[in-house]
Amino acid sequence: MTEPPDVMRLLEPDVLLDPHPLYRQWHAQAPVLWDPGIEAWLVTGYEEALTALRDAETFCQDWRRIGVDTPPSLLSLQTLDPPEHTRVRHLLLEGFKAVDLGELERTVRARLDELLATAGEFEIFDFVSRVAEPLTLRTVTRLLGLPEPEQGWFVPLSNTIVDGMDASLRPECYEPGVAARSELTALVRDLLDSDLPEGLTSRAVERAPAADVDREVLLNSLRVVLQAGFQTASRFLVTGLLTLLRIPPEQRPVVATDKAVNELVRYAGPVHVESRACVRDTVLGEQKVRKGEIVSMFLGAANRDPAVFAAPDTLRWDRTPNRHLAFGRGPHACLGAQVAVLVARTVFGVLGTRHPRARLAAEPVPRPNVTEHGMHRLEIAL
Ligand code: HEM
Repeated sequence: MTEPPDVMRLLEPDVLLDPHPLYRQWHAQAPVLWDPGIEAWLVTGYEEALTALRDAETFCQDWRRIGVDTPPSLLSLQTLDPPEHTRVRHLLLEGFKAVDLGELERTVRARLDELLATAGEFEIFDFVSRVAEPLTLRTVTRLLGLPEPEQGWFVPLSNTIVDGMDASLRPECYEPGVAARSELTALVRDLLDSDLPEGLTSRAVERAPAADVDREVLLNSLRVVLQAGFQTASRFLVTGLLTLLRIPPEQRPVVATDKAVNELVRYAGPVHVESRACVRDTVLGEQKVRKGEIVSMFLGAANRDPAVFAAPDTLRWDRTPNRHLAFGRGPHACLGAQVAVLVARTVFGVLGTRHPRARLAAEPVPRPNVTEHGMHRLEIAL
């Protein structure tokens, strides 16, 4: 009899830095494996994860469909299913399509230049707090057409929300996560009540009634875009740079194309887990999944499934096709993938070209986050 998986191991620092040996063990047992500890299915197979992500009829984000009471403050793009989800998604998508990406790229470059000039005054500096976080905060707020909150206030609050996403493993993070989310909602509410500049947010607010999107749902959804956009994009700059700096300078590529960024995000994307609730009895990867059970897709594991990716543990910069799941798939697929790729190719392109011999100055300390991987600090020297 094989041992049941021990999900608490995901919190060990070595596993946070490299969870793939553990993912491989689980996958070897079954691509869809029951964990009796957290009472959820662990999906590490690519095809199985793809099926569940695409099939919102069977695997829901809106847990009211399995009888879980959801307060209005939680209803958003992220927690609704089609058709309610489709309306708010279209409204926001329209806003994303209207963004001038050339202008956004100039904003990213200008801010990056400023941040590197300041950071470069030190021989060794922390890339997380001096570059990744301020750069992403500027980019996401510009994208949304919102004023930029103060980094010292916003970042800890935002990290507390991410900690709350791991409450099934760290129950003590649940309450602070809820409180932090309320605080962020209050900020977005105040902003919506103020005189907003022309942009994605003001446009969405104006068009919401015609699109039949409730104001509360729109407010929560804008909070989600701000939070998800900031966290995932800034954490990817960190996990991506760490991966690149582990390659000796003479073999290190300049990651400045969409293709190369996509390979980096397949290999080192920050979002490791996305969960759904099963709405009706079904079969996934030969397992009987029952109504009401939770299914957790391990995107990092699926992205290295050898049945889909040749040499999955090797970075192949010209990998084609590269149908990774780092940005999700199906109705809830990432709304900001294009922006995330733009930011990453700009940052890695500039760093790789100007500082080809940049190096790690200390071993990084991972944040204890299983759902969205990240580092407390990443000390580097240019
Ligand atoms: C490298 C950076 C990023 C990664 C790896 C990433 C990853 C993901 C993933 C895996 C999902 C799917 C969630 C699910 O299926 O439940 C998602 C959804 C989402 N992402 Fe991203 N993301 C990134 C950057 C961004 C950015 C920059 C923005 C906004 C500016 C953004 C906004 C969103 C939103 C709003 C959703 C929810 C969409 C929905 O539920 O319909 N993301 N992202």
